[in-house]
Amino acid sequence: MNTPEPLLDVRDLRTYFLTDQGDVRAVDGISFSMNEGERLGVVGESGSGKSVTAASIMGLIEPPGAIVGGEVMFRGRDLLKLREREMQKIRGREIAIIFQDPMTALDPVFTIGSQMTETLRIHRHMSKSEARTVAIDTLADVHIPNPEKRIADYPHQFSGGMRQRVVIAMALLCDPTLLIADEPTTALDVTSQAQVMDLMLGLADDRGTAVMLITHCRWILRERASHVRR
Ligand SMILES: Nc1ncnc2c1ncn2[C@@H]1O[C@H](COP(=O)(O)OP(=O)(O)OP(=O)(O)O)[C@@H](O)[C@H]1O
Ligand SMILES: [Mg+2]
Repeated sequence: MNTPEPLLDVRDLRTYFLTDQGDVRAVDGISFSMNEGERLGVVGESGSGKSVTAASIMGLIEPPGAIVGGEVMFRGRDLLKLREREMQKIRGREIAIIFQDPMTALDPVFTIGSQMTETLRIHRHMSKSEARTVAIDTLADVHIPNPEKRIADYPHQFSGGMRQRVVIAMALLCDPTLLIADEPTTALDVTSQAQVMDLMLGLADDRGTAVMLITHCRWILRERASHVRR
């Protein structure tokens, strides 16, 4: 029997920042792979290249940064060879990312409802009313009380913990195959960190979503990741 192809297979990835002071070798030859539905923990000290690895996979490296070598095989295709238009279809739809700062994922000038329905209309071609229903259901999944009312609110009208749960809802909205969570809870106090983390992981498990969980906190990964890459 053939072994199944991994969902994500990163091979010898190298991302450098070419600055006047010389090259910063932020990621210098990392390799790892993940299967469908699997959870991978990535730990490393501050500045070790975790976020740059995540941004490289998502095709979000901008000058002076450059991917100078390696492959990012996702379902058998090398993402590094895709055009930006093809990558846009994958981003958010097949691979979603949660950043450390919830405001990077939310636009302050639009209600969360319009941001969520817009995403569903673009990526999943839903009608307005279908999108609204899915958005409300997903807000309920992340335990936002009165989601049918809160959907009309702007990001700043939510507390920090709620906002991070809204970001999780946005990431899961299109039912991605892979969720990259880059320090998704560091903005929260320690008690909420564990709660929000377990909520996110539980929802990902329910949907069969693979999770790459990036953190510099080893305790967060204890009992939460089947594999840990340092
Ligand atoms: N835009 C940039 N220009 C120059 N160097 C950069 C840039 N972005 C990141 N770097 C460098 O790349 C290296 C890796 O950064 P990265 O953000 O991936 O670290 P990290 O492991 O995510 O750290 P943390 O745990 O603090 O989030 C660091 O040395 C950083 O200074
Ligand atoms: Mg980081």
